[in-house]
Amino acid sequence: MKQKIMSGMRPTGKLHLGHYLGVIDNWVKLQDEYDCYFSVADWHALTTKYDKTETMKQDVLDVVMDWLAAGINPNKATIYVQSLVPETAELHIYLSMITPQNWVERDPTLKDMAKILKTKEGMASQINYGLMGYPVLMTADILTFNADLVPVGIDQVAHVELTRDIARRFNYVYNTDFFKEPQPKLNNCSLICGLDGNKMGKSFNNDIKISDSEEVTAKKIMTAITDRSRIKKDDPGHPEECEVAFKYWKIFGTEEDVAQTRCECENAQRGCADCKRKLGAKINERMKEIRERRRYYEEHPEIVKQIIEEGSAKARTEAQKILAEVRKLVRMY
Ligand code: TRP
Ligand code: SF4
Repeated sequence: MKQKIMSGMRPTGKLHLGHYLGVIDNWVKLQDEYDCYFSVADWHALTTKYDKTETMKQDVLDVVMDWLAAGINPNKATIYVQSLVPETAELHIYLSMITPQNWVERDPTLKDMAKILKTKEGMASQINYGLMGYPVLMTADILTFNADLVPVGIDQVAHVELTRDIARRFNYVYNTDFFKEPQPKLNNCSLICGLDGNKMGKSFNNDIKISDSEEVTAKKIMTAITDRSRIKKDDPGHPEECEVAFKYWKIFGTEEDVAQTRCECENAQRGCADCKRKLGAKINERMKEIRERRRYYEEHPEIVKQIIEEGSAKARTEAQKILAEVRKLVRMY
């Protein structure tokens, strides 16, 4: 039997190349080898955006459209929406009973999230009960399918460690070996930075979206930081100090492209504007098929909704099997 993989993403709206290269492209590769469950974590979004839910529905659709465009195949992987699998909420309750308070207080991302909330609301923020439970809810996501592996970024590894602790504790308390201790699965792709050299993020206005048109992509690329010491076109450039554009070349270009860019830059045979025009074309070439697929789904939202419903129903059937066992183990009525 195939090993099970579970992972998720909060519905933050249209996804950018950081999501694509850092997460989704990896999922696409995993779906052949593993039994995959990919969740749009709308409850997790609520932990910080409980009062800004106007865009929730569209955000969920946008995320799923980006996944499908990127090549997640609903015939291979199960795509579902977290809140359409209420068994996860039930499991969350059982897990919350056995999770010591100081395990969740230790969570390193909690402080960051509190900070984000604080700057957003411009006042002393409080941490709500639901936000506090973020990592327990994530544990419930993973254990809802008794997954073996959880592909995540380095920032989420602490959560998977907690998942292992909680799984072990459940097994101990109820004298069972039912839950596996899932392993984080880090992917080894290099992170793509934003156009300004900082981490790529929606709120930093430095991202390129999967769904951006070729024109928008080309325009955005022209704003990418280059070698700051290079003033004139006939100054020799320093590719290794070219903060963004050359890094993008390494991600999107062939080895030959990179070598040629390096050579022409160092010998002042290529200006930065020209270099970025070529780079924009390169990125558009790589994204072409994905964007065509995305447009297809945008024009057929009913297909996307059907995929969500069918995937969620399938996930729910699996979840019900796990929860039946959990209820038995906890000895509920
Ligand atoms: N917490 C994850 C993030 O912010 C998203 C997530 C929710 C998740 N549930 C999950 C990741 C389950 C892995 C497994 O990126
Ligand atoms: Fe960067 Fe290209 Fe300019 Fe060289 S020519 S500094 S690689 S943008």
